[in-house]
Amino acid sequence: MPMVDDAAAPHFIRLRELGEDRIEDVLALAGRLKRGTSRAELSGRSVGMLFFRGSLRTRTSLEVALYQLGGHTVNLTASSDFWELEARHGTVMDGAAPEHIRDAAGVLSSYVHALAIRPKPAGRSWEVDRRDEGIRAWAEYARVPVINMESALWHPLQALADLFTLRETFGPLAKKRIAITWTPSPTPSGPAVIHSTLLAALRSGMNVAVAHPRGYELDGGVMSEAEEIARERGGKLETGLSPEEAVKDADVVYARSWSSLEVYGNPTLAASRVARSAGWTVDEKLMALGNDARLMHPMPVRRNLEVSDEVLDGPRSLLMAQAENRLHTQKGLLSMLLRG
Ligand code: CP
Repeated sequence: MPMVDDAAAPHFIRLRELGEDRIEDVLALAGRLKRGTSRAELSGRSVGMLFFRGSLRTRTSLEVALYQLGGHTVNLTASSDFWELEARHGTVMDGAAPEHIRDAAGVLSSYVHALAIRPKPAGRSWEVDRRDEGIRAWAEYARVPVINMESALWHPLQALADLFTLRETFGPLAKKRIAITWTPSPTPSGPAVIHSTLLAALRSGMNVAVAHPRGYELDGGVMSEAEEIARERGGKLETGLSPEEAVKDADVVYARSWSSLEVYGNPTLAASRVARSAGWTVDEKLMALGNDARLMHPMPVRRNLEVSDEVLDGPRSLLMAQAENRLHTQKGLLSMLLRG
């Protein structure tokens, strides 16, 4: 049944795994599909989508993407639609989970042509969660491509749409300045979106300025990779700036809440850090420091806490284009992964 054999299944856990040529192909196809100058056809193809935590955009845009291409998705939500799963190798399964990921992935691989997974990091230790073992176990056992719908470390589907939106808005990206700024939230996200989009921006030759309060440094391994890419591509990478320093002369401001990795797994300390971080809301005064700057945010966005209504509803906002482009870029990606 699956059209991709065991050895060849190309997984999409992080953007880099596609390779630069294929990223270009996917973006070009997405552009043609958006303009209506190309058609893609995936009739008879199915994708299983497994959600271990909630989603609005990813779930809807992937489902509609495959529907518009003539294919079909099966949506499964953990806790209501399938058994609790064991991920450990060689364990005696006498706990709560009656099924192993190995068996679930094997079975689903004989029904569908790709598996899209949104895992739920345990949230106790960043050192453990950053290994992305949840999604990597699916990739290890599945015989079809596994698509990451946002793990602890990466959100490649968002980065693909962000890259498309940046190019659509600015054309060539080399030397454009993107200010990535932390925003406050009582329910901060993980750093996955920022990690993926930061590397995509640097790979495009952009100058990247990251602003965050002390204690909100991004993952050390990702930042080492970011420095290497900046050196390779000739972009400038600045970190630990204030919002004003980062946004000064920026062409685009990318706002996003993310949790402190320093106190990861300690909700009390995390909440007190957020409470101490007043003054990080993105508003028109901050945006005015940029170079006619546009605003991006992957959503969901907390209005008047992360970003003011004035900016969100004004002409600087690219949020709706970004969200719409999830659909077009995922159509491009699915066409490439499932065409066989
Ligand atoms: N940006 C994003 O992935 O949105 P959802 O969490 O709603 O899917």
